[in-house]
Amino acid sequence: MAEEFQLDFLGDLRRTHHCGALRPPDVGKRALIMGWVHRVRDLGGLLFMHIRDREGITQIVFRSEQNSEILAKAALIRSEYVVAFEGEVELRSKETINPAIATGEVEIVVDKLWILNTSKTPPFPMEDSVDVQEEMRLKYRYLDLRRPRMQRNLIMRSKLAFAVREYMYGAGFLELETPFLTKSTPEGSRDFLVPSRMNQGMFYALPQSPQIFKQLYMVAGYEKYFQLVRCFRDEDLRADRQYEFTQIDVEMSFPQQETIYENIEPMVKAVCKAAGFPLDYQFPRMTYAEAMDQYGSDKPDLRIPRFWRVEDLFANAPVPMTHPGLPLVAIIIPKTGPLSRKERDDLKAYGQEKGLRVFDDMKRLDRDFPEVMPQLRERIGATEEDLVLVCGWPNEVAGHRPQETVLKACGDLRLHAARKYNDRHKLLDPKDLRWLWVVDFPMFEWDDEDNRWVAAHHPFTSVKDEDLHFLSTEPGRCRAKSYDIVLNGIELASGSIRIHRQDVQSTVFDALGLSKEEAKKKFGFLLEALEFGAPPHGGIALGFDRLVMLLAGEETIRDVIPFPKTSKGTDLMCEAPSTVDDKQLRELGIQLRVKPGK
Ligand code: AMO
Repeated sequence: MAEEFQLDFLGDLRRTHHCGALRPPDVGKRALIMGWVHRVRDLGGLLFMHIRDREGITQIVFRSEQNSEILAKAALIRSEYVVAFEGEVELRSKETINPAIATGEVEIVVDKLWILNTSKTPPFPMEDSVDVQEEMRLKYRYLDLRRPRMQRNLIMRSKLAFAVREYMYGAGFLELETPFLTKSTPEGSRDFLVPSRMNQGMFYALPQSPQIFKQLYMVAGYEKYFQLVRCFRDEDLRADRQYEFTQIDVEMSFPQQETIYENIEPMVKAVCKAAGFPLDYQFPRMTYAEAMDQYGSDKPDLRIPRFWRVEDLFANAPVPMTHPGLPLVAIIIPKTGPLSRKERDDLKAYGQEKGLRVFDDMKRLDRDFPEVMPQLRERIGATEEDLVLVCGWPNEVAGHRPQETVLKACGDLRLHAARKYNDRHKLLDPKDLRWLWVVDFPMFEWDDEDNRWVAAHHPFTSVKDEDLHFLSTEPGRCRAKSYDIVLNGIELASGSIRIHRQDVQSTVFDALGLSKEEAKKKFGFLLEALEFGAPPHGGIALGFDRLVMLLAGEETIRDVIPFPKTSKGTDLMCEAPSTVDDKQLRELGIQLRVKPGK
């Protein structure tokens, strides 16, 4: 196409206005805009175009009385060409005002134009209204990123990053970097490894988080650290997980848990305000035990009401409704209206798959338990319009925390039912942001595969003072000085007060079954640093991509990350991962044991 005519040079042209700038007071002025041709409309005597840049869209018009050279050149222009137009700003007639765009009351009558570049016809139009397959979007990501929705998302991402920095600098935090080529860090996922050319047979690991380094900043006396930092984890990808993601990583010296909340909550509020969601409430706090007992989840979605324990009400049932010692739970999902037999059967089947025994027939329960059911309805606040499911567990449960197994299954059923019937009750409004702190997590979780306790958060987390005596005898009972921020059922942040004493850190490594040699090999430098006057310290990390996703109203972090990987971990645009030359492998001392791609 470019061969058909000569492209113009930018020369010394400068734009006078962005495409979102012009308004009625500009009428009569000269304006020079630059951007992409969004749309061309030829009405015989009149040729209109919408010109788009990051800031908006401006309509330009060529009139037939203009000189034929200009009109001939204008006729060459196609969608997505890059152009510069100059002319006089005019008021549009009343009937042609376009309220859908901010500049819709005016237009530029063009008398000079420059074609700066052509464009092939894009594989999809630069419109939000057109549904494009994600594969196509990711292959032509630079075009997808041109579309208004993605531009809004990434502009918001930048604004929110600025809001974080503005708040943190103002609160006395220093933004300090940490290395990417480092040693394995203990966040429980697989590492991405980088082979070393200078030390063949050895590998760096990309950091799963800057955890140890931020602790070392505290040992070094920097007191308040933060960083917007990329982290790398080789784990299965999901809507809220990518291999590379960004954390707002924070660490402080001499903090109480309260000090962390006092610093982080206002930062989150500043970010929400920048996103147009001012928050005027203090985040409620809930212990892990309460969250489990009332929501069956350590990340409760507070838009759906809690569930209730009701084993006391049915203690005298002729046939036990749950296995002795295990919870009996009443789940309530408001305003679903009566469900059909089939709908109730589906929910029951879902619960059964999770191991639950679900009593869904309230009429039957009313008949069998005439004295109990009014009490149950009163406890859970149920009306005729609400769905109520009473859930027990038929058998014994193996494992270290059997109650939790049952409560988690009830939590899953509660979420499933709420999501399934959301269209009836509109509980799950994405604009209804229900923040909370979940605190006092268990310190350890049992790993069935390895048959040992593993750190629930990470092994540098302090045990609550009053639980320290369980450390060597009953690790399962230790609670941690740890806290999460949860928003609408999604874990947004995790943190803890750290262990700052070498002897305590060694005891925790012991409880985790990590031998002295292993501990030294993995974290020797941290253990050593703790011997050189490490102050009490603690911190937190927020998932920045998840935060932007929720504030942008998106359902996956892929829509707020400029160049994400597919769920199979590939980059469709640059075709990564890819094979490398033999020469590169030889330099690294690497020989492949499998055929690439296997
Ligand atoms: P944690 O591992 O809980 O804690 O991570 C903190 C937050 O990071 C986000 N996140 C992710 N986001 C996108 N993709 C992923 N694969 C992913 N993994 C985690 C989540 C999560 O809450 N070093 C500790 C923090 C600390 O103790 O200070 C840590 O990394 O929103």
